[in-house]
Amino acid sequence: MKIIGLTASPHANGNTVTLVTKILENAASGGAQTKHLDLAKLNISPCKGCNYCKAHEDCVQKDDFTDVISEINSSDGIVLGSPVYFSDISAQEKLFIDRLYSCVDASFKTRIPPGKKIAFIYSQNTPDRKAFDQHFAKYDFIAGMLGLQSVGRFVSVGDVKKSPAEIDGAVALGKKLA
Ligand SMILES: Cc1cc2nc3c(=O)[nH]c(=O)nc-3n(C[C@H](O)[C@H](O)[C@H](O)COP(=O)(O)O)c2cc1C
Repeated sequence: MKIIGLTASPHANGNTVTLVTKILENAASGGAQTKHLDLAKLNISPCKGCNYCKAHEDCVQKDDFTDVISEINSSDGIVLGSPVYFSDISAQEKLFIDRLYSCVDASFKTRIPPGKKIAFIYSQNTPDRKAFDQHFAKYDFIAGMLGLQSVGRFVSVGDVKKSPAEIDGAVALGKKLA
């Protein structure tokens, strides 16, 4: 079992990375192979909208996205984490998601091998964990388009290092990937 964690926060030691790291640590203690990829640090350019990927098997741009998709293709489970910026995901995560357009062919059939699960982590300050559910729902839809089975989302509130309940909530979701 291989679980990869993808985070899209500029804070290398912030809430999103903390939660995703805890999920990976828990998975590793259960015997899984794990890897964390920080989308905010990787060199991933925006989608050009050139449709090269509809006539070819991959993206025309050869940057760090190539490595990330290779990790996804060899994984069994994915944790995708983002801070909440203006009610939605960070630009770093949106940019990555746009590049996933290269993972569907011209008929919108996914190129990602079947059987993979995905868990979504969101970190926010608003106390109402359901406040932005209508925005988050579209990422469940996109996961479905890509053939990834969502095991759900965990929305954390505030400084997670000061709240074991936030860590527990994220780890409980992560366990559903196994
Ligand atoms: C540009 C920006 C926009 C934000 N917008 C929201 C928001 O709409 N709702 C919210 O609850 N928190 C918002 N926040 C707070 C972050 O979501 C929160 O601090 C989060 O835990 C940061 O995660 P990180 O430590 O992983 O970077 C915003 C923060 C920034 C920097």
